[in-house]
Amino acid sequence: KLFMYKLIRPVLFLFDPEKIHTIAFQIIKAICYFPGFKWLIRSSYRIKNHKLERELFGIKFDNPVGLAAGFDKDAYLVDELSSFGFGFVEIGTVTPLPQDGNPKPRLFRLKKDKALINRMGFNNSGVEEVVSRLRNRKSDIIVGGNIGRNKITKNSNAIQDYEICFEKLFPYVDYFVINVSSPNTPGLRDLQEKKPLIKLLSRVQELNSEKKNKKPVLLKIAPDLSFNQLDDIIQIIKQTGIDGVIATNTTISRDDLNTASEKITDIGSGGLSGNPLKDQSTRIIKYLSQKSNKSFAIIGVGGIDSVDSALEKLDAGADLIQLYTGFIYEGPILINKINKALIRR
Ligand code: FNR
Repeated sequence: KLFMYKLIRPVLFLFDPEKIHTIAFQIIKAICYFPGFKWLIRSSYRIKNHKLERELFGIKFDNPVGLAAGFDKDAYLVDELSSFGFGFVEIGTVTPLPQDGNPKPRLFRLKKDKALINRMGFNNSGVEEVVSRLRNRKSDIIVGGNIGRNKITKNSNAIQDYEICFEKLFPYVDYFVINVSSPNTPGLRDLQEKKPLIKLLSRVQELNSEKKNKKPVLLKIAPDLSFNQLDDIIQIIKQTGIDGVIATNTTISRDDLNTASEKITDIGSGGLSGNPLKDQSTRIIKYLSQKSNKSFAIIGVGGIDSVDSALEKLDAGADLIQLYTGFIYEGPILINKINKALIRR
């Protein structure tokens, strides 16, 4: 392989996680500026095989392994990331206005748990700038637009924020994700309640049906919902006719961690992702899939860090999968390994 991520990871992990994220972005951007390097990365990681292709809600995916939201919030690296072998890339969460997010530090590694805790708070450059970037993109990789509300917007006006993002991004993304499950925007998750959720999704679907060609709409849910709440979600998906769910976002739970509890207390609030989230999100995928008789699309995400954990999500009922934290810990080779295993299956 082009470079051994496992060898450079100890160096990357010496630095502050958010700083190294920014630096890695610059490096990837710079390297891929040279077509030779981009080709080298592409030929090392990307696999084309008809056995990997998936068709879901009218979209054809080259392979079922995607990059989860939050990694490339501002659609800065969409073309470059397609070279690493992802079948699709989800940008965002995007809000109408640019916003800084929470004070730093706000991203923490739990190495002993192969996990992260983040309280980024939807730092992003705002929908206008994201649109201008997507307008200039060159690759034809499938792009999902994950949208949310600004921190300063009250929940009572939240629908407007989703409307703005939906309308502005519409020509430039392949599917939409309504994010009501981030733990880092105060009050946001209250939008997962039955009444406000029906109102929000109905409005998005109303705008969607005014278009010549509708775009798939998915709902991203928290892993902390009860089975009763999941029953409501199933019913709401049917009622509003949206295309499916992304399960799941990060958890607010801190159960069964190997990291010292003093360290966890020091870190403070935020969403936990990675290995400790794995079973919780798989359980939710399985429940939704069985309880709904597989009547809508499910994108499975949460703690995928190996071939086995990827297959587990698919076996639980996920049509496609996404990863973020596993990408940080295992590097781009993980996507390649999962896809190779899927060809063998
Ligand atoms: C996220 N995630 C996320 N999700 C989302 O819908 N909008 C967002 O802006 C973000 N931002 C974000 C930032 C950081 C630093 C992390 C680690 C995660 C959640 C992410 O998309 C995914 O749902 C979870 O991280 C669970 O998957 P993994 O990381 O365990 O593979």
